Amino acid sequence: MIECKSPRQIIRMREAGRIVAGALSLIEGLAKSGVTTDFLNDEADRYVRAHRGTPVFKGYRRYPKSICTSINEEVVHGIPGPRKLCEGDILSVDIGVEYRKYVADAAVTIPIGEVLPEAQRLIEVCRRALYQAIEAVRPGARLSEVSGAIQQFVEANGYAVIRDYTGHGIGRRMHEDPQVPNYVSEALLANDVILLEGTALAIEPMICQGGPETEVLDNQWTVVTKDRKLSAHFEHTVVVTESGCEILTLG
Ligand code: MF3
Ligand code: CO
Repeated sequence: MIECKSPRQIIRMREAGRIVAGALSLIEGLAKSGVTTDFLNDEADRYVRAHRGTPVFKGYRRYPKSICTSINEEVVHGIPGPRKLCEGDILSVDIGVEYRKYVADAAVTIPIGEVLPEAQRLIEVCRRALYQAIEAVRPGARLSEVSGAIQQFVEANGYAVIRDYTGHGIGRRMHEDPQVPNYVSEALLANDVILLEGTALAIEPMICQGGPETEVLDNQWTVVTKDRKLSAHFEHTVVVTESGCEILTLG
């Protein structure tokens, strides 16, 4: 069941979203060659709590940290640790925050120093794919139009969409109905959803240079591309408004 959020609920999600956005822009400023992902985790955690939010990833299915940091071939759910970032890496940072019982979730992929032009292009295509999807969000639109906007744009630019993980509804919990795939399948078309005012979605394209197949590392969390080629990830929490949509995870 898809819950439509009331204006009062949306106000809280907007507050959560503002904290998410602030934490991500803090991390964007700190993510430099030589810095550990643990340091980024701790700074994000401190920022969120200083703004009276709670990092929601920590403890979710026993996930041990407050953010996810996924480097290069890591797609999502990379666990912060002692690894230092290197010039040329691309780092995906994902964070979810609860504020007064409501959740917002967002992610960005950050180039560390100078990266190869091909890595930069992957990042830009992923960012723009997210915005293509957001442009498709309005009352009366079908969910498959949102998924299709991502797939069409990513594949037209020569990349593949990760299929093993999806975006999601969001609000009182981090993961609510509906699932938001980044490609169109028969299953999606058969169960398509019409977006209504108040529908809140975390839209999160994950894309890669090579094949879309993934595997999970021995730590049971970190998702990598099977071919170990680069992957990028962007995410915003949005809500359907009367005339279109509002991005809740902007600064
Ligand atoms: N933002 C991601 C999602 O929407 C990551 C959550 S997984 C966690 O699914 F374990 F880190 F919380
Ligand atoms: Co998410």
